[in-house]
Amino acid sequence: MNHFDSIGGEMHAEQVPLSTIAQTVGTPVYVYSTATLQRHARVYKAGVAKAGPRTHVAFAVKANPNLAVLRVLANEGFGADVVSGGEMTRAMAAGIAAKDIVFSGVGKTRAELHQGLDAGIGQFNLELEEEGVVLAGIAAAKGLRAPAVLRVNPDVDAGTHDKISTGKKENKFGLPIDQALDIFNRLAPLEGLNLRGVAVHIGSQLSSLAPLEAAFERVGALVAQLRAAGHTITHVDLGGGLGVPYRKGEVMPSPDEFGEMVARVTAGWDVELQFEPGRAICANAGVLVTEVLWVKPGVVHPYVIVDAAMNDLSRVALYDAHHDFAAVRPSGETFVASVAGPVCESSDVFAKGREIDLVRGGDLAVLLSAGAYGATMASMYNSRPLVPEVLVSGDRFEVVAKRVSAEAMMGEEQVPAWLK
Ligand code: LLP
Repeated sequence: MNHFDSIGGEMHAEQVPLSTIAQTVGTPVYVYSTATLQRHARVYKAGVAKAGPRTHVAFAVKANPNLAVLRVLANEGFGADVVSGGEMTRAMAAGIAAKDIVFSGVGKTRAELHQGLDAGIGQFNLELEEEGVVLAGIAAAKGLRAPAVLRVNPDVDAGTHDKISTGKKENKFGLPIDQALDIFNRLAPLEGLNLRGVAVHIGSQLSSLAPLEAAFERVGALVAQLRAAGHTITHVDLGGGLGVPYRKGEVMPSPDEFGEMVARVTAGWDVELQFEPGRAICANAGVLVTEVLWVKPGVVHPYVIVDAAMNDLSRVALYDAHHDFAAVRPSGETFVASVAGPVCESSDVFAKGREIDLVRGGDLAVLLSAGAYGATMASMYNSRPLVPEVLVSGDRFEVVAKRVSAEAMMGEEQVPAWLK
């Protein structure tokens, strides 16, 4: 459920007409709904709470790192799953306590390990043995013991797009689950580490719970094996990955069903359970509002040329992702058309030969379900200004990230003196 509905024939974000935002801020613009973020946060928390009271939810900051969005989730009691020093800084700036931050990522730098230790973050998810040795050394030199878990790769096919699968043995993520015991045996005694559990994350946009269940079962077997070897296991991180509906009417496993499965599989584990959802919280809490520039006659289908492009929302070009396209004020008529942006690439196409609302030049339209991996993956390709973001709450809205102008972009560049 989300809060982008038609009121009086026009799509609104909660109580704000999208045309009001477009007139004030210009297009393209990302618009997020606070009530939707809150609802998804609560539904997710309630779902995983079925597995017991010792459940913790950390928002995967990469999905939407906007400070205002993070603040909404901090207020819902979410921690943060971060993959860089930059995300860590942001999460804390948004009011998330260091102890509620989990640091994932396959390539943490020494500087980032220092930053995490100095900040006192809650957990490091280790990706390889050497990283554990280095972290232990840095922590010991500071007189600290770094709270850490080993991220394992369970070799499970998540059944999602190849580019967002992380749990198959050929993927770069995690360490092979069959080597985890040996690595644990070697790392656990290190003075600077408090190695206390395991983590798993097999991919994103999972449309079935079966691969998650298979992965969790392997993790459960590993926990038993580690305990049998004498290790104290208190923490398991089950990652994110729950899919969301991108098409009208599409049904995905709900947080409730996910929670029931987790409760069944983890019964008897007796650990603190950590979750790292991103998309499930924010994808359907955001839309990308765009203006139709032209309807260009095409040989096969007309091209609806909009002012948003692949640099603003790259998911379609990168993963053949689907985003529903809709007019802000639909007339009720439809036509078959393709939707494309102004960037000089043939992959700058949001929809191909799809039946969509009939639109004309000057109309406003939206690409739906754009709140996750949207603005955060935007670039300035073709020297297009970075797209702004707006947060709505009830009948209020505010710009929470300004449009970055061409002048500001050039402000970071310089021509060397020898060319002047
Ligand atoms: N935890 C870890 C360790 C992750 O790598 C990810 C996502 C998450 C949690 C959150 O996953 P979620 O709940 O959002 O599925 N840019 C791609 C998605 C990349 C996901 C990367 N990792 C897309 O737009 O589809």
